[in-house]
Amino acid sequence: MNTNQGEAILGELLIKLEHYTYYHFDTEEQYFQKYEYPELAIHKSQHDLLRSQVSELEERYEKGDEVLVVKVMELLKNWFFDHILGSDRKFGYFLNEKGIKHV
Ligand SMILES: [Fe+2]
Ligand SMILES: [Fe+2]
Repeated sequence: MNTNQGEAILGELLIKLEHYTYYHFDTEEQYFQKYEYPELAIHKSQHDLLRSQVSELEERYEKGDEVLVVKVMELLKNWFFDHILGSDRKFGYFLNEKGIKHV
């Protein structure tokens, strides 16, 4: 894989992540409100941080600045291990207790 291909893939990945944050986070946040999730504030602040990290990387990419693959991998790693396996799972249990399947 040459550098241009690698960069194009990185760009696509960042755009997909940005869309994901919009739809998925918004859906979760609507559920927080609807079911009065007690950890709404902390969970939402984690979403806000992830949103800003993704758009910062995306903006840099759009401007033609160097975006390090290792930075993107680090973001995904934290996202997956801390957020999805931590906060999202906790929210999933909360919903399950209310008889609702996680979104
Ligand atoms: Fe989630
Ligand atoms: Fe979440």
